[in-house]
Amino acid sequence: MKHKLTFPDGFWWGAASSGPQTEGWAGKKHENVMDTWYRTSRKDFFDGVGPDVASDFYHTYPEDFKLMKEIGMNSFRTSVQWTRLIKDLETGEADPEGVKFYKDMIAKAKKNGIELILNLHHFDMPTELLEKYGGWQSKHVVDLFKKFAKTAFEEFGDDVRYWTTFNEPMVIPEAGWLYGFHYPKLVGQGKEAVEIIGNINLASAKAIKAYRDSKKNGEIGIILNLTPAYPESDSKEDAAAAKFADEFFNQSFLDPAIKGEFPKDLEELLRKDGVLWDLSEEDRKTIAENTVDFLGVNYYHPKRVRAPKNPDKYENWMPDRYFEEYEWKEGRINPYRGWEIFPKAIYDIAKNVQDNYGNIKWFISENGMGVEGEERFRKEDGSIEDDYRIDFYNEHLAHLHKAIEEGSNCFGFHAWTAMDCWSWNNAYKNRYGFIGVDLGDQSRKIKKSGRWLKEVSDENAILI
Ligand code: NOJ
Repeated sequence: MKHKLTFPDGFWWGAASSGPQTEGWAGKKHENVMDTWYRTSRKDFFDGVGPDVASDFYHTYPEDFKLMKEIGMNSFRTSVQWTRLIKDLETGEADPEGVKFYKDMIAKAKKNGIELILNLHHFDMPTELLEKYGGWQSKHVVDLFKKFAKTAFEEFGDDVRYWTTFNEPMVIPEAGWLYGFHYPKLVGQGKEAVEIIGNINLASAKAIKAYRDSKKNGEIGIILNLTPAYPESDSKEDAAAAKFADEFFNQSFLDPAIKGEFPKDLEELLRKDGVLWDLSEEDRKTIAENTVDFLGVNYYHPKRVRAPKNPDKYENWMPDRYFEEYEWKEGRINPYRGWEIFPKAIYDIAKNVQDNYGNIKWFISENGMGVEGEERFRKEDGSIEDDYRIDFYNEHLAHLHKAIEEGSNCFGFHAWTAMDCWSWNNAYKNRYGFIGVDLGDQSRKIKKSGRWLKEVSDENAILI
């Protein structure tokens, strides 16, 4: 017999995406760093496919919102692109074409009964600002971001009630400065990475302040990729590695965003190592006074960590001094993508937020299963039978439900993603959507998981 697990009234059922991964380049006035990387080196991207067209959301949004409604989505997150909205990056002056696009996009979401959540930064630093000032290494860029945020609030703040400042800010230093898998593809730049963490926290706080000063009638939060760190053994050394990994990769954004301050032990350790963020007393005050209204959590897989075997591998300071990840073999691995599947971490995250972060209201802002070669699951009627994805979501939702029953203040679940979309270097290698996209003619087709979402959303419950 199946059990029905019902979620709280008004629960958000939806999906997330981002401007740079969906809209394509049409109408944009500036390039972001990934655009530039693609334009200058297409071979670095899976099958040579880039963000130039992506899923063509710039043109397809009216139809896409209808499809989202059809699969039961009551909410959807995407981002406003700095490089599209702003004409003059120094003054923050808006580009009329960008304003027109976003206004109409917002109106179409509303017309379809979809609550739109707008995020401000999704890895999409304008290339000019990276080249001229060093991007997030620069306090001037922090202030330019605030100007962009202010413009976005002025233009759209009456029509959009939920905002977020950053998506997965940790990925920026991690991928761009530590391990080199996103532009500017630097490796081993630990000191710079730590500075970037400080500056992005400051940028987020300044944008929150700008939102509150705008007196709009909504809420503002941040979206963090939380990767609970589980130690390999009970040893003191492995426990210390897990503590460090959690503090560095999770708490260095979670604590400032919610508590207004950095984790003390981590700060002490970084100060001792001579790599602390560069923030004045005034900057710290700004962070302390401008914490979030709500939290979004992106969860895909945990970190499995142990004490490092080779702490001195890098010449410069690196977080790898304090932990190493190991390949976890006992559990379930997504056979179509390679990431570990560990649904219980959602429960652990929920409990952590409940017990250590004042039970702030939060939602799952991304969770999803990427599948390489998903075409093989297409049936004769043309639809993709993605039962593996339905099972994946049901399992994660069951753990979330348990945490909610125990008092967690979670108000929604967003999958990654609605329509298959472009994913950074992997391009369209791993498909994630409830709705398939044919890259040849951009046609859309609802997958089985999309029909599953409709039932879940109508019932406000899962059946497992
Ligand atoms: C996290 C990011 O927010 C998004 O941009 C990315 O494509 C998905 N995860 C899938 O990996």
